[in-house]
Amino acid sequence: MSQRRLFVTTALPYANGHFHIGHIMEYIQADIWVRFQRMQGHDVNFVCADDAHGAPIMIAADKAGKTPQQFVADIAAGRKPYLDGFHIGFDNWHSTDGPENHVLAQDVYRALKANGLIETRTIEQFFDPEKNMFLPDRFIKGECPNCHAKDQYGDNCEVCSKVYSPTDLINPYSALSGAKPVLRQSDHFFFKLSDPRCLAFLDQWTQSGAVQPEVLNKISEWIEPGEDGKPRMGDWDISRDAPYFGIEIPDAPGKYFYVWLDAPVGYLASLKNLFDKTGRDFDAFMADPTTEQYHFIGKDIITFHTLFWPAMLKFSGRKVPNAVFVHGFLTINNGEKMSKSRGTGLDPLKYLQLGMNPEWLRYYLAAKLSSRNEDIDFNPEDFMLRVNSDLVGKYINIASRAAGFIAKRFDGRLGEVSADGDALLDHLQSAAPHVAELYAEREYGKALREIMLLADRVNAYVDQNKPWELAKQQGMDGRLHDVCTTCIEAFRLLTLYLKPVLPALAAQVEDFLQAAPLQFAHTTRLLGKGHAIKAYQHLMQRVDVKQLDALFEPPPEPAKPATVPGGEPIADTISIDDFAKIDLRIAQIVKCEAVEGSSKLLRLTLDVGEGRTRNVFSGIASAYAPEDLVGKLSVVVANLAPRKMKFGVSEGMVLAASHADENAEPGIHVLHPWPGATPGMRVR
Ligand code: 2FM
Ligand code: ZN
Repeated sequence: MSQRRLFVTTALPYANGHFHIGHIMEYIQADIWVRFQRMQGHDVNFVCADDAHGAPIMIAADKAGKTPQQFVADIAAGRKPYLDGFHIGFDNWHSTDGPENHVLAQDVYRALKANGLIETRTIEQFFDPEKNMFLPDRFIKGECPNCHAKDQYGDNCEVCSKVYSPTDLINPYSALSGAKPVLRQSDHFFFKLSDPRCLAFLDQWTQSGAVQPEVLNKISEWIEPGEDGKPRMGDWDISRDAPYFGIEIPDAPGKYFYVWLDAPVGYLASLKNLFDKTGRDFDAFMADPTTEQYHFIGKDIITFHTLFWPAMLKFSGRKVPNAVFVHGFLTINNGEKMSKSRGTGLDPLKYLQLGMNPEWLRYYLAAKLSSRNEDIDFNPEDFMLRVNSDLVGKYINIASRAAGFIAKRFDGRLGEVSADGDALLDHLQSAAPHVAELYAEREYGKALREIMLLADRVNAYVDQNKPWELAKQQGMDGRLHDVCTTCIEAFRLLTLYLKPVLPALAAQVEDFLQAAPLQFAHTTRLLGKGHAIKAYQHLMQRVDVKQLDALFEPPPEPAKPATVPGGEPIADTISIDDFAKIDLRIAQIVKCEAVEGSSKLLRLTLDVGEGRTRNVFSGIASAYAPEDLVGKLSVVVANLAPRKMKFGVSEGMVLAASHADENAEPGIHVLHPWPGATPGMRVR
C-alpha cells in the first residue's frame, strides 16, 4: 500500500475551562485511529488548539481580572498533564489567537467576499448601555414571556423550555451590569449559505460519503427545501461588534469574526504552525490533491462542521474535508446518580492522580466505541470487569504464564514452534486484515472483541498444554520450550493488534520481547528461533474497587459558612493576598451634601491625604443628615475603579455596616476610626 498523507484533528476546546472526560474520550478515539494509521506506515499530522475567542471568554477574563490573552494562556498551561497522562499524541497544540489564524481567517473571508458570498445587513440587537456593548443572548436575562419565571436567559426558558428571542423577555436586563438593555441597530456580515452554489456543493459533499448515514439524515433537513421551497438553513451571521475578543474583519473597523468562523480555521493554523516549526511546506501539503483531511467531533457541533466549514473551505478555494467523524456523548452510569458514596462525574485529572492506569480507560472506551454517532456509557462495575477479565485475565496472562520458563529453563531464548503452534500463529496472523479494517472504520469495539477471541484461542492452547505440568515432567523440555515459544510469539501478535489502544504497554512489551516497533506490516514476521527476550516484569495491575470508589467519591463538602444575625453567611475564604489588593485608607469628610433627585445618596468630598479631594457617592442618606458628617473621619476603599453614576463619577467607597437588608433595623452605620488616625493612613 502506498503511503497516505493525512491531516487529522479533534474539535478545538474552548479555552475557558479544563478538560472534562468528554474531551478526553474524543481525543482517545482520534488518537487510536491516528496510531493505527501510523502503524500502517502513513504520514499522519494530528493537531489541535485552544479555541480562544468569543464573548464568553472575554467576559470570563474580565471577571478574573485578566486580559483575554492571559486568561487563555493560563488555561493552555494546564493542558499537558491530561494529554501526556492519557497518551494523546498530538503533533501540535496551538491557539486560534495565534498569528497564523489571524492571517488564514482573513484570507478565507476575503476569498468568500470575492466570490460574492458575503453580504451586509442591518440587524437590531440588545445593547448594554453601561458596558457599552452588544449583548450575546446568553447575557440577557428577564422574565419568561410564557411561564413568567424570573431570571431566564435570552434564548430559552429553563423552567418551561420555551424557545424565544431576547426581545420577547419581559423586563430584560443585562446579566453583565444589571442595566436595562436598549435595542440598537448594527451592520452585520453574513455568509450567504443559501446561495444556490453553496446548496449545490453541500448537497454533493454531504452525499459523497463524508458523513455517517445517521448524520446525513440530520443535516439533509437543513439543506433540502422546506414547505416554503427554501432551505431551512439561512445565511450565517459571521460578525460581531467591538468590544470582542477575536479577529478583526478586514476593511471593517470595529467588526470581528464571530468565534465560530475563525475556530475551524484554527485547524489549518495549527497545522501551519507545526509545518513552519518543522520546515515543511504547508501550502504544498494542503494543495496536494492526495492529502486527506479528517475531523473528529461531537454531535453537538455537526452543523458547523458539515455545512459551514466545508462551504467556507470550498468557496475560498481550499481542500474540503474527506470526512467528518461524529461521536456521541459519554454518560457516566447512564447519567444516573451513583451510589450514595459516589458522585456522578469522572474527573480525568483525579483519575490520573489516583494512579489509575490511563490505558485501562483507553481500553474500556475503545471497547465501547463504534463508527456510529451514538452515546456510550461509563459504568464502573463494567469497567473493572472488562479490564480485569479481558486485559489482565486474557491478554497479559499469556505472557506471565510463558515468559518465566523461557528465562529460567531456556536462557531467555525462543525455540522451535511445532505444527499445532504454527496453526495457532497462522490463525492469529490471518486476522490482521480484518482487525486493520475494523480500526480503519473506527469499529474499535468490534476490533477488540476480535482480538479477545484470538486471546481466547491462545489461552485454550495454554490450558491444553499446561506448561506448568510439562515443566515437572521428565524429558518434556522440548515440548515446554515449543509451547512457551508459541505463547510468546502469540503474545507479540496480540500486542501488535492492541498497540493503537495501548501504546505505552506495547512499548514496554517491545522492550521485553526485544522486538522492533510493532507495525501492521510485521504481522507475517515472527521473532524466530534463538531470539532472546528479557526477563518478564509484571505489565499491568488489576483495577481495584477501592480506586473506583475514590474516583467517584464526591469532593468534600465545603465547610458550611457560619451565619450571623441578619441572615448573611460569611463569604468564601480569601487569601491574605486577596485582602492586600484592597487599599483601605482613612478619609476625612470635608464636605457633605444631599444629591438632588436621589433619596438614597449623599455626595461626600473626601480628603484621603493625597493633596487633592475626591468625590464619592454613598448610599447613606437614610441614616445621616449631611451636616452631621462634615469633619468626621471614616474608612474608604481607595483603589476601587472610578464608577460613572447618573450624578457624576464616584472615586471610592466609604465603608458602612448593615444587615443584608439595609433598611431593616438597626440601619446603616458608617465606620469611624478610633482617635489618633489621620487622613491617608492605610487600614490593614
Ligand atoms: O464546541 C466547542 O467546544 C468548540 N470550541 C469547538 C470548536 S471546533 C473547531 F471549529 F474549532
Ligand atoms: Zn418559562
